[in-house]
Amino acid sequence: MSNRLEFLLEQNRRWSQSVKERNQDFFRNLAAQQNPQYLWIGCADSRVPANEILGLEPGEVFVHRNVANVVVHTDLNCLSVLQYAVDALRVRHVLVVGHYGCGGVTAALHNTRLGLIDNWLRHVQDVRDKHRVRLMAIADPIRQLDRLCELNVLEQVLNLSETTIMRDAWARGQEVTVHGLIYGLEDGVLHDLNMPVSTDNELLSHYEAAIDRLFASPART
Ligand code: CO
Repeated sequence: MSNRLEFLLEQNRRWSQSVKERNQDFFRNLAAQQNPQYLWIGCADSRVPANEILGLEPGEVFVHRNVANVVVHTDLNCLSVLQYAVDALRVRHVLVVGHYGCGGVTAALHNTRLGLIDNWLRHVQDVRDKHRVRLMAIADPIRQLDRLCELNVLEQVLNLSETTIMRDAWARGQEVTVHGLIYGLEDGVLHDLNMPVSTDNELLSHYEAAIDRLFASPART
């Protein structure tokens, strides 16, 4: 175990050194302030790291991750991240990022019992049940899972856009847009699910259009 930790610390020293070789003041500048344009709300899955996927440096994206990228109105952790990002950091874009092949979404779809986490994944089952008729009409189990992964993103964009934090920001005229994206583990590519929300009054129409588009012409078939 200690050997593994030594390995990690050594890796870190090498990384720090290489960054400083490119830019001597990189860490000194960052230590003084952060000014990210983006908030990423994504899955905790180790294969979906925000900075690497976006090709962004430390300081460029504020991040919150949980199992299956869920936004719940009683989750003080997620809401605190959102509030700080929107009110204090003034990010311009909030990205809700799901991924295909999500273990949390898979467990929710099939009622797999995993323990305490079942209670968290109940929120994804609510998404499944909300769209049950259209989901159950899909015969191919892989496609069915793909659609639920996508639907889960759109529903979380809806939840996020309905928070007091976003509503207050839009009411005072702040320019901040919420987006729903989904990531492919197999090719490393992000797809836009085309549900941008930058004001209160476009929320429901953009949500409904995005859901219809999903079933008419899926981002991945
Ligand atoms: Co996942």
